[in-house]
Amino acid sequence: MQKSQIGLVGLGVMGQNLALNMEDKGYFVSVYNRTASKTEKFAQDKIQDKKIQPTYSLEEFVDSLERPRKVILLVKAGQAVDDFIEKIIPLMDKGDLIIDSGNSFFKDTIRRNQYLEGKGFLFIGTGISGGEEGALKGPAMMPGGQKEAYNLVQDLFEKISAKALDNKPCVSYIGPHGAGHYVKMIHNGIEYGDMQLIGECVWTFKKALGLTSEEIAEIIEKWNNEDDVLSSYLIEITAESMKEKDKGKNNSLVDLVADITRMKGTGTWTVQSALELLVPIPTITAAVFSREMSQDKDLRLQLSKKIPSYREINKDINREELVGIAHDALYLAKLSSYAQGMALLQAASEKYNFNLNLKNIVEGWRAGCIIRAQFLDEITKVYQDNPKLLSLLVAPRFLDVVKNNLSKLAQFIGIAHSAGVPIPTMDGSFDYILQLGSPTMVSAQVTAIQRDFFGAHGYFKLKDMDNPEMILNKDKQWKEFHTQWMLPGRPEEEWS
Ligand code: 6PG
Repeated sequence: MQKSQIGLVGLGVMGQNLALNMEDKGYFVSVYNRTASKTEKFAQDKIQDKKIQPTYSLEEFVDSLERPRKVILLVKAGQAVDDFIEKIIPLMDKGDLIIDSGNSFFKDTIRRNQYLEGKGFLFIGTGISGGEEGALKGPAMMPGGQKEAYNLVQDLFEKISAKALDNKPCVSYIGPHGAGHYVKMIHNGIEYGDMQLIGECVWTFKKALGLTSEEIAEIIEKWNNEDDVLSSYLIEITAESMKEKDKGKNNSLVDLVADITRMKGTGTWTVQSALELLVPIPTITAAVFSREMSQDKDLRLQLSKKIPSYREINKDINREELVGIAHDALYLAKLSSYAQGMALLQAASEKYNFNLNLKNIVEGWRAGCIIRAQFLDEITKVYQDNPKLLSLLVAPRFLDVVKNNLSKLAQFIGIAHSAGVPIPTMDGSFDYILQLGSPTMVSAQVTAIQRDFFGAHGYFKLKDMDNPEMILNKDKQWKEFHTQWMLPGRPEEEWS
């Protein structure tokens, strides 16, 4: 019997679709699922005339694969992955490859990679983005692991992945061990930011202008024009889903949906990683916090009876004007959020020796994935021109956006706040830009001196106060001092 070139474990909808996608690209595929009835149903309904072999035991599955065996896991992230690895490796041979395609935590992937490498197996942890449709028609893929492991599946991955408009496949070798899952995690963090930023625009339109969901959908739909900087999958589906009516009724479905956003964890991990690496990502953090706040529906219901709702006496706001301001504000807020995500990638690349190629990563997000957007073409060009760019915000093509749109973002924030709309991600994006644009953070000066006052923690002063351009850490042009706050005359002493 013809051996299969690839095996897939886990026949949820994603798994089924990925198997069909691989078969469609010419591959012989074996599939296995823990619950045999699912495999039977898949075999009956979807693969009668296809080069997909259903198998009903792990032994049969492993045996049906050509060597070196390549097995894609699409099981629930977490313990299930470890359990499965333990079950399958006794049946496999050294040099065989296991590919974890779930949204696994990157540190688990690093651990699994080391563990399996120690036993002579190859291991890839790959992010796959694009949901069920992407799995079938072409997802964006972010594989990390040994380069030799990637070489075994490069052809397959390039065939099954989405293609950008220039026909480039949305996949590239991301880096060793956990690099692929790290990049997928950041993709998801950025996804959280994008979604919340759009939601804040919608809320502002509702409260400041009194528009209906349908009217807002029409506004947002226009932002998806090919030549619009906001044009993206998330903008497209926001408009489409907000037009949807409740079944058989005239109400917009979105207005009946509970205001509770669940999450599976990738956004939280992004924030945890940012805290660990000391890289501020206020937009993404605010998006995660907003989801948390949304989940505390009971608390909000109770407290909202007591906390007065805030709204300034309605100023006359012109609809067209606010739509224009929101558009430009959203663009800059999004840029700020991506700048944060990319800064985190840069830091993680160093910390974990991922050796990330930012241009390839962004290029691979241009199609197939949830954050796919016209805007990513621009970011690709930016990193092509300057792979070591300090911040996306200062790339020449984006610096103009910062210059032109900053006052729009400020205006939008003012309008939203005066309408009583909480917009934490817009705030986060704006403040991020203001802070990066501040050569002196007065708040930090105040905090530093407060710490010295109550805890004798010391503070730094520049050696040459007349030269504020000196870069503190780099040139070591500072000295540490402490003021003896409790002594008369408050003598200052040098500490180091
Ligand atoms: C993707 C999505 C995908 C999934 C997330 C949702 O890239 O295809 O990001 O990974 O939809 O798991 O994440 P939350 O449940 O955390 O919103």
